[in-house]
This record gives sequence, C-alpha cells and structure tokens, in this order.
Amino acid sequence: MMLYFSQLNINDNTRTHHMAADPLQTEALQLTLALDNIRDSIEEDDDPQRMFDDIVRLLQTQFDADGCAVVLLQETSDDIEAIATSGLAQGEAIDLCRAAMRRSEPAAIDNPYWEYALGNGIILKGLPLGGLILTRRSHPFTGHERALLAIAEKQIDSAIIQARMNWKLIQRNRELNAIYQIDHLRDHITDEDELVSAFADVLIQQFSAQFTIIVRFQDDVSTVRQVEDRLRLPADVVQAIRASAADLSIPQTIPTPAGFPGLILLAAPFIVGGRRFGAAVIGRKAVFTIADHRLLFAITSQVDSALAQSARLAEQTPPTGASLPSATPSSAAADSVLNDSIRYQDRQLYCDSVAVSDIIAQVGTPVYIYSLRRALHNLSEIQAAFPEAHVHFSAKSNANLAVLNALIKHGAGIDTVSGGEIHRALLAGADPQSIVFAGVGKTSNELFFALDQNVGWVNIENVEEANLLNAIASTAGKTIRTALRFNPDVTANTHPHIATGHGGAKFGLSADAIRWLLDRRNETPNLRYEGIHIHIGSQLHDTTATVEALRVTRELIAPYPFITTIDIGGGLPSRYQSGEALPTPADFATALKPLLDGYDVILEPGRSIIADAGLLVARVLYVKEQGDQTFLITDTGMTELIRPALYNAHHEIVPLTIPDTTAGTMTAAVVGPVCETTDVLGRNVTLPAVQPGDLLAILNAGAYGMVMASNYNSRPRPPEIVLDEDGVRWHVSRRRETWQDLDQYEAKPPKSTHK
Ligand code: LLP
Repeated sequence: MMLYFSQLNINDNTRTHHMAADPLQTEALQLTLALDNIRDSIEEDDDPQRMFDDIVRLLQTQFDADGCAVVLLQETSDDIEAIATSGLAQGEAIDLCRAAMRRSEPAAIDNPYWEYALGNGIILKGLPLGGLILTRRSHPFTGHERALLAIAEKQIDSAIIQARMNWKLIQRNRELNAIYQIDHLRDHITDEDELVSAFADVLIQQFSAQFTIIVRFQDDVSTVRQVEDRLRLPADVVQAIRASAADLSIPQTIPTPAGFPGLILLAAPFIVGGRRFGAAVIGRKAVFTIADHRLLFAITSQVDSALAQSARLAEQTPPTGASLPSATPSSAAADSVLNDSIRYQDRQLYCDSVAVSDIIAQVGTPVYIYSLRRALHNLSEIQAAFPEAHVHFSAKSNANLAVLNALIKHGAGIDTVSGGEIHRALLAGADPQSIVFAGVGKTSNELFFALDQNVGWVNIENVEEANLLNAIASTAGKTIRTALRFNPDVTANTHPHIATGHGGAKFGLSADAIRWLLDRRNETPNLRYEGIHIHIGSQLHDTTATVEALRVTRELIAPYPFITTIDIGGGLPSRYQSGEALPTPADFATALKPLLDGYDVILEPGRSIIADAGLLVARVLYVKEQGDQTFLITDTGMTELIRPALYNAHHEIVPLTIPDTTAGTMTAAVVGPVCETTDVLGRNVTLPAVQPGDLLAILNAGAYGMVMASNYNSRPRPPEIVLDEDGVRWHVSRRRETWQDLDQYEAKPPKSTHK
C-alpha cells in the first residue's frame, strides 16, 4: 500500500494543488491509477478480500475520512458477498452501505452513527451490487469530494469483475480443503464422540469462529453434543441457541442471544438419509458472507456422510467374506451376474454391507458405486492363477484414484495409454517402474513425460515411434526398457469393435516390422528391447485365439533371446449376462502356461478386475407408453454409460428394492434423457412394476463406464462412490460435477447480450 501513496503522492494536498490547473482532474487521475494498481496487484489465487481492504484504506486516506466501507451483496439475494471496512463497525458499515446502495450518485446518507456520511451505490452494468460509504465527524463532504467518489465507484466496478474470477477459485479451494480435512477424520476416527469433537475443531478453524455448538436430534429431542467455546457462553444461552437451530433445512443465520451484541450465529443442519440428524452452529463477531454459507454447507454435507458411516460402524462389525448374509433371489438372469459383493439381502440391493439405497439417499442419482472388496477379490484370483506374473491393471477401464490406489496397495502395477493416465497412476501411488506406457499414438510430449518419470516400460507400436523415442531418450541421456507390440493377425472371439489383434487393425507392428526393428537395434541404442506385447482384444470368450497369438509370438521372438518378457495384454472377460460360458483366469493360465514357460510375464487386465465391482444407479423419471413399447425414462443414459449405445452391450438392470407383493412384472426399454435414439441402457428389460421415482441399478458397470462418460447435452458427470475393503465404509471419491464445472474453461461473454 505504501508504495502507491509514495509513487503517486495522492495524499499530498499541497503538491496536488500546485500540479495542475484543474485539481479535480489531477486528483481523479491519481486516484484512478492507485485503484487500478491495487486491482492489478491481485494474483490469480489471491483472496479478493485483501484487494477490497486495500481499496477501503486507500479511500479513507484519500478523503481524510474517519470511516470507509464497501459492502457487496449477491445479485440474486440480500446476502453479503463481501465486506471491507476501516474505521467502521461491521454493523454500521452494513446499514450505511445498504442505505447508500439506493443512490445512483454520491449523496449524504442520513444515519444515527456519524455527523457526515457520503455514500454511493455500487452499480455494475445497471445492476445494484452494493454500497460504498465514507464517514467523518469533523467537517462535511464537499462537492469536489462527491465528484471524486463518483469516479472511485466506477473504478471499484472493475475491481469487482476481477474479484469475481478469483472468488470462484478461492471458494472451490476452501471447500475442497475442508472436505479433505473431514474425509481424513472420517477415515481415521471411528468413535463418534471423538469424530464430533474433531468436526467442531474444523469449524472453529475454517471460520475463525469463537465458538461452535453441535446439536444432536433424536426422537424429537435435541441435545447439545459438543461445545467449543472461547466466549464462555452461559448454559442458558447455549440452550437458547440449541433451540433456534432445531428446524433448519439450509445454512442460515439465527438470532443473536440477548446480551451478546455484535455476535453473529450461522447454523446448518446435518441430514443423514433424508432425516435431520443434528445441527452445527458457529458464532463470531464478524459477518458471515455468502461464501461462508456455502462453505458451511459443503462441510456439513460431508459430515453427514461421515456421521452416517460412524453410525453404521457402531451398528455393524465389519463382516468377513465368509459371513456375508445370503442373497434373496431376484431374477435368474440378474442372479447370474450378482456376486458376493453386489447382491440382494432382504430384498434390498447391497454393495457389500451397505444398502445401495442408503448411499443414494445421501448422494442422489446418477451415481457410480464401486466395491473395493470385489475388485481386490478379482485381482487376487488373477494373481493366484498367474503367481509369477506382474499384473498391471489397465487404467483405461477405470481410472478412479481410490480404485487405482487399492489395487496398487495389493501388488498391481498400472497399464497406461496416455500422459494423463501416467499422471493419475502416479497420483494414486504407483511406483513409476511398475507403470507400462502403451498406446497407438503417443505424442513426443507424452514420451518425454514418461521418460522423465522413469516409467518401467514403453511399448512401441510403430517404427517411427521407435526412432522418436530413441531420439528423446538420447537427448535426455537415458535408456528405456521397451516392448514391441505385435499384431499377430488372429481374430479374437469378441465384439468386432473391441478386437485389436487382426491384421487389419491399427494396433501393433507386423512380424516383418518387428524383425526389421530388432535386426537394426544398434541404430536405436537408447532403447532396450526386452519385451514383446500382444493384446488381441477385450472380453475374450475363449482362450483359443490367445493361444494361437502366443504360438506365433513365440516363433517370432525365438531368434532374439534378449526378449525375455511377454506382455499378454488384457482381455480376460467378465460375466455380463447369464448363459455366457466364459473362461476363468485359471482357464487362461492353464491354456497359456506351456507357451509362457521361460519368460517373465505381464498381464494387463482391466474389465475382469473392475466390471463386476461397479454399478450405476439411475432413477426412473417417467413411465411412457408409446407405440407398442413401454419406456422407462431415467435420469441416466449414454452420457453416463455409453456401452449399450456404442457396442450394443448388454447390462443387467435390476431394481434396488424387490417388492414383496407379486404386483406383476413389466417389460420395458430403459432409456436415458439424452437426445439420441441410441440413448438406451437396456432393451426388453423385465422388471417388477416400476413407478416414477424408483431406483434401478445397472450392473457390471465398473469397467469402461465412468471413464467413457461425457458431458454431452451439457450433463455434469456423476459422482463415484468407493466402498472400502471392510465393506462398510464408503466415501465420495469423486464428487458430482456442477454446471460451473462445465463452463470453467470458457471465456464468458458479457451478460445481457440478448436484444
Ligand atoms: N491392454 C491393452 C493394450 C488394451 O488395449 C486393453 C483394452 C487392455 C489391456 C485392457 O483390456 P481388458 O482387460 O479391460 O479387456 N471400451 C470397450 C473396451 C475397450 C478395450 C480397449 N483396450 C468396452 O467398453 O468394452
């Protein structure tokens, strides 16, 4: 701040008077420059509060005022967006600025606090956004000062525009930070009392509050659970606050108890499973802005799920695999794709020990839910079938960080196909050496990144790529272990869109190209050719084509003894519907073992680990009879799960609750809300009679579901919920996207551009 004063001498009246013929013009220019300087000094991630504080202090000095304040209100409500004051109490500042808000030019403001008050509304593009006030005890404001204030107001407009950009970012960071704090507590504290007291500390810290009271409601009685109090409020005041926090549905300020002037209370409910579970009240002697309301909402919503979890933990001891409750049969078709983790219990669909409907009550639909238990079970089956092999989970099938992290912790490496996937694998905790970087079209940037991060393998898919990677490695002064991806020209028994090993596919190198490269390996001294890679397709219905591919591969590499690793790719299938006779990992192991003998082996399964560990939940919006069909129109469609639309893939669709009456069944097309005829999740689906509002689960959606989701029709992508290994705890691993997320990368046209 001092910098602006000394640079511009705006406070040096003597000098100003000598400087120019029109003192107003000179002063106005200097003021404008000083305000611009403050605005421009704010960095992208700075809190605009500092900017407004600086502006207020500058104006106070400039006008030789005893007090100065800027109060900004939300466009669509009366809520306070920001307040900056100097020499004025917050309450006065708010009253005065609200009065000033109605003035379109600087005018004296009648008030009970000050002899002289000069105020002006802050009006941006015709919209009143707040007020600006100057106060003095000793002498009135002059006409000259009124003119100057009008100029200041114009300059503040551009500071507000700047602030708006920063606010969003700051707010998001504040919320994320608080949510992480709560997630951390939830994961580390099981005792509910301890948890509640830790939340209280988070609230105190996040809001610089002087006290917090946490209330619990039970059977229409509310009791105080926890008080953290630096003000030492008397017991009757605490009880009065408890009473006023009783029936809130959103965060809001509640009345200040008598005898505590200036104290402001903000309260918010905890809602668990649609039921009001309790409330949090925070208090301090400073106003809560709209950003604080939002932050409290974010925190209490996260506490909701943590409390619900701790209640569940109290009720249940984590079950072991063997003691899982038995399933209630649904339909024969669905039964065949249900498993130990995703199954019915008392006519309710469960994911491990949690009723899926309990999760929906808290997070809504559409939503992806994954069972780590099931994923780890699948991983361990593959590890048991191929005990010597390195299993690299294929992140293209599911790149959720919590899923990757759990698999990594249980010994998996990661198969990646882009810089982004490498980034995520590292973020999830992968050892760089256990990352394979494959992919048909890697850019030089991605290759640089992979090399820089020391990934374990780069799999090469064409001759130019070998030369490029060699050049990059040589510049970096490194050598890199590589596998050549072989296109063995076999036709896999799978859907043509996911077959990759036939000669006509874009994937891999021909046998001739591989021999060409290996025979000239001296020309690429920075590449260590140690592996051969094949992946003939996904969802393989038998082992025959893989056996054949491996036979050809063995022939190809026999003359090159330095090729010591065979990466057999992914492709192990998952059961999507009944009646599919599918090979198990053990079947693959038995069939391939003779051909793999003497080699190190890498596998890259994706689907077989995560498909049946995940489900997608949709809500029925409408039941529509049209033509001779019944359509169940849901809030979930090809934007969430594109597989049925893209490959005509089959997913079982089942109700979350099986009705206990025999109300009959219906056969319907389950469709989404997207404007495409192919926006279908299932055709001819047989279900118990379904009503609007009912919930449906789309099974086997853990692989190639969320990773292929899109924002088509400007639909925010759904959240991902991850159930921990204990089968009891769950958390929002990725939150639901918002409309703001959708426009965050775009420049915004000015408002009101319509004619
Ligand atoms: N390795 C390579 C080189 C791959 O191309 C793939 C899958 C995998 C491993 C993993 O395959 P998995 O074990 O998951 O079958 N979006 C399609 C599937 C595309 C598969 C692409 N490559 C779907 O939804 O069915």
